[in-house]
Amino acid sequence: MKLLRNIVDSFTQLLGSVKRNRRIRPKGDSPLLVNLGCGLSVCKGWLNIDGSLNALIASWPAFMHRLFYRLSGASQYYSQQEYCDLLQRHRFIHHDLIHGIPLVDGVVDVVYTSHFLEHLYKNDGKRLLQEAYRVLKPGGIVRVCVPDLVYALALYPRGEKEKMLLNYFFVEDQGSQYARHKYMYDFEMLKTILDEIGFKGVQRCVYRRDKHLIWIVWITVLRIPYILRQSGRWLVGNMP
Ligand SMILES: C[S@@+](CC[C@H](N)C(=O)[O-])C[C@H]1O[C@@H](n2cnc3c(N)ncnc32)[C@H](O)[C@@H]1O
Repeated sequence: MKLLRNIVDSFTQLLGSVKRNRRIRPKGDSPLLVNLGCGLSVCKGWLNIDGSLNALIASWPAFMHRLFYRLSGASQYYSQQEYCDLLQRHRFIHHDLIHGIPLVDGVVDVVYTSHFLEHLYKNDGKRLLQEAYRVLKPGGIVRVCVPDLVYALALYPRGEKEKMLLNYFFVEDQGSQYARHKYMYDFEMLKTILDEIGFKGVQRCVYRRDKHLIWIVWITVLRIPYILRQSGRWLVGNMP
């Protein structure tokens, strides 16, 4: 199974590379809400982009979803029915985000990315945020959630060394090369990058305490499952 997963993973990445220069103009989405590195934490009404096998097969016939269920690794978290429903009821684009965001300029209202940026090397991460700037409309919002480097480092003096190393610095899933963490951020580091790119009003948001009413409306109406079940730090930057 492990060998098969590695082969499928390499094939999935190869396909991502073949499609690297795509720039799609989405039709009829208003507002256009994009979730980068979505995994299976997806919501109705969002355009979910990920480089995984799940995103690749989402548009394939339903029997393929059942076929790939075990291979995808999703069986650790979801029943087969839940997995099939997630793929069939949501909109995915399969894309290796190391090659940028596969959308044309200035069409997106909100870019949301959760626990994904740390899966890119530093320069690739900055390029991705520049890409977010490129695809956002004037007044658009980028929302970035990452594991907090400050929190991770605080585990060490508390004696939680293994937890720090395995959950934050050497995260690994032998079946997917995408699972690795390649960089880490604290708020200041991320703010510096977002400021340099040109985002305005970058600020830190506390988990489940949000001053941005419009965002709360979106999460309430569209129910981002992530916010209900994981803790984290939130950042937001507005386009000028
Ligand atoms: C830890 S998961 C986060 C999933 C979800 N956003 C969440 O918060 O639960 C990281 C996701 O990033 C995706 N990923 C990692 N590197 C990627 C890349 N270069 N291009 C596209 N997706 C990538 C993985 O496939 C995985 O789904």
